[in-house]
Amino acid sequence: MYEIVKKEVLSPGVLLFDVAAPLIAKKCQPGQFVILRIDEDGERIPLTIADFDREAGTITLIFQEVGHTTRQLGTLNKGDGLLDLVGPLGKATHIDKFGTVVCVGGGIGVAPVYPIARAYKQAGNKVVSIIGARNADLLILEKEMAAVSDELIITTDDGSKGRKGLVIHPLQEMIDAGEKIDVVMAIGPVIMMRSVADVTRPYNIHTVVSLNPIMVDGTGMCGGCRVSVGEKNKFACVDGPEFDAHQVDFNGLMARQRMYHDHEKMERCGGGSCKCNK
Ligand SMILES: Cc1cc2nc3c(=O)[nH]c(=O)nc-3n(C[C@H](O)[C@H](O)[C@H](O)COP(=O)(O)OP(=O)(O)OC[C@H]3O[C@@H](n4cnc5c(N)ncnc54)[C@H](O)[C@@H]3O)c2cc1C
Ligand code: FES
Repeated sequence: MYEIVKKEVLSPGVLLFDVAAPLIAKKCQPGQFVILRIDEDGERIPLTIADFDREAGTITLIFQEVGHTTRQLGTLNKGDGLLDLVGPLGKATHIDKFGTVVCVGGGIGVAPVYPIARAYKQAGNKVVSIIGARNADLLILEKEMAAVSDELIITTDDGSKGRKGLVIHPLQEMIDAGEKIDVVMAIGPVIMMRSVADVTRPYNIHTVVSLNPIMVDGTGMCGGCRVSVGEKNKFACVDGPEFDAHQVDFNGLMARQRMYHDHEKMERCGGGSCKCNK
């Protein structure tokens, strides 16, 4: 059992757990993830390692309650345990001294961006972070991101905090102002990552995204997380989850993510031909 040693609510439906997992905490690097199972009947879900404390032997998981397993996870409390925790999985982020790095995080995507931004900063880069959410209540890790960034720009869709608009707007403005950007790291909803790629592509700015396709085994064996990158088939669990944004087939990724939509909806509504919008 992996004990939950801390539970915090970051925003409505977004929770933070610190979990005792000394071996994972000892080895993990920014960009990696774990696959967990709550109990013997549970499905396996991937979550990014949002932070780690090697001395305390804990890892931090930040998750959004979207469906069955994440909601069940949200009912657990400090002192409860997770049955399985496999990791660290996936390739670590390539951290180097590149110059100026822009870290873009949308919604829950700010959680995986945070350790990466911190590592870029520690490597001597100038880090400009742009984080966005639909509204002020849904913004997470603002203080933490400010602490690891030379500049933090906040956007909300409704203008309730920071600038009104999307995360791509300040990015486009930086480019238009002639600021030299060496790397862009973007993590968030697929549609946001596709938009970031569209903004940087004409300027040939190296852009990295962390993909979140459906995963099952996390070992490259089941094919569940297949994505097309540069017209080649890649498995996000072992070849990623980070890829060159300008090479990713985002439309294919979105189509695959929708594959189980009807099954998930039926499961939420208890089966049958429900027409509700849950
Ligand atoms: C490498 C990786 C890292 C991830 N890290 C995090 C993280 O740090 N925090 C976090 O909140 N989530 C993260 N996710 C997404 C998380 O795994 C899913 O939200 C979770 O599996 C949903 O399970 P569920 O049973 O609660 O919902 P389900 O009932 O399976 O799905 C409910 C809804 O969520 C959507 N959904 C399911 N899986 C995904 C997915 N992989 N990406 C986007 N939407 C999905 C479905 O389309 C559906 O609409 C990550 C995914 C991957 C592949
Ligand atoms: S999750 Fe099975 S191949 Fe990646």
